[in-house]
Amino acid sequence: MRILITGASGLLGLNLALETTHRHTVFGTVNDHSLKTDAFTVIQTNLLAPGAVERLLERTQPEWVIHCAALANLDACEADPDLARQLNTDLPRTLANHVARSGARMLHVSTDSVFDGLGGDYSEEDLPNPLGIYSRTKLDSEQAVLEVDPTAIIARVNLFGWSLRGNRSLAEFFFNNLSQGRQVMGFTDVFFCPLLANDLAGIFIRMLERHLSGLYHVVSSESLSKYDFGMRLARRFNLDGSLINPTSVAQSGLKAARSPNLTLRTHKLASALGESLPSLSTGLERLYTLYQQGYPQALRNLALE
Ligand SMILES: NC(=O)c1ccc[n+]([C@@H]2O[C@H](COP(=O)([O-])OP(=O)(O)OC[C@H]3O[C@@H](n4cnc5c(N)ncnc54)[C@H](OP(=O)(O)O)[C@@H]3O)[C@@H](O)[C@H]2O)c1
Repeated sequence: MRILITGASGLLGLNLALETTHRHTVFGTVNDHSLKTDAFTVIQTNLLAPGAVERLLERTQPEWVIHCAALANLDACEADPDLARQLNTDLPRTLANHVARSGARMLHVSTDSVFDGLGGDYSEEDLPNPLGIYSRTKLDSEQAVLEVDPTAIIARVNLFGWSLRGNRSLAEFFFNNLSQGRQVMGFTDVFFCPLLANDLAGIFIRMLERHLSGLYHVVSSESLSKYDFGMRLARRFNLDGSLINPTSVAQSGLKAARSPNLTLRTHKLASALGESLPSLSTGLERLYTLYQQGYPQALRNLALE
């Protein structure tokens, strides 16, 4: 298949591009952070520039489009709501429109944080209630994409992994700090279901192969607090877990509101694919194997300063 991945310099897009390029022809877009790699075709484009989406589709002629590009930093979204709306809502709508007209299939990446997290154990049927600009613009993107292309897949994700600059994911936050002997906070009252970016890649491909459409929760089958995530990672990497101070998010000083319980049900996807979603242990094991294989450094080497 010819697959176009937007946001291929990001945490998800880069891992996705590298995981899929062995079996597919992959085009990956970057904006500010270019890449030096022969593994897939890198296309530098600001997707907000007039005509950029049309030119990109014309050039790549994809059969599948996986849209990962976004303004995914919560505080950046609060600081610039207009940019957040353009990138997180308007761009997916425009892209979905052109993709549908071209006859290609689209998988749009959304977030678990469309929920306020006051309840937890959310299914795809539950009513979202976004707490901030990021979550609001992502929820609006789900509706915008499905409006113009009801056959699109919307994947609500939460992920961790190794990234281009080595500091994009929560796993890297704990790994970097604990390896340096630095104390960190670990929230005991924020729950989530993080899935390894590399595992997400395979799941996305199977969702496209099975011709799924509509809304799916694509997260780990296991929910835990961010503190427990840090402790589990510390154990797997033989790092000192006592450096993680159990803390309430209320004491953190973080600006943008965080949903406390983002435990999402994955039954819908598990039954559509005929497989359960990976547990955290599976993801952490693979994160560790990738580390032993020098994958984090290999990613770092792709960065063009
Ligand atoms: N990370 C998480 O834990 C998490 C959780 C839930 C949902 N998600 C969702 O997963 C998706 C991927 O997130 P991520 O963490 O991989 O994001 P990320 O690491 O912040 O990467 C964002 C990507 O978007 C690109 N981009 C930004 N502005 C652009 C523009 N104007 N034109 C073209 N590309 C542009 C960036 O390119 P440059 O860097 O080259 O500028 C980068 O490749 C997003 O939809 C996000 O909402 C992520």
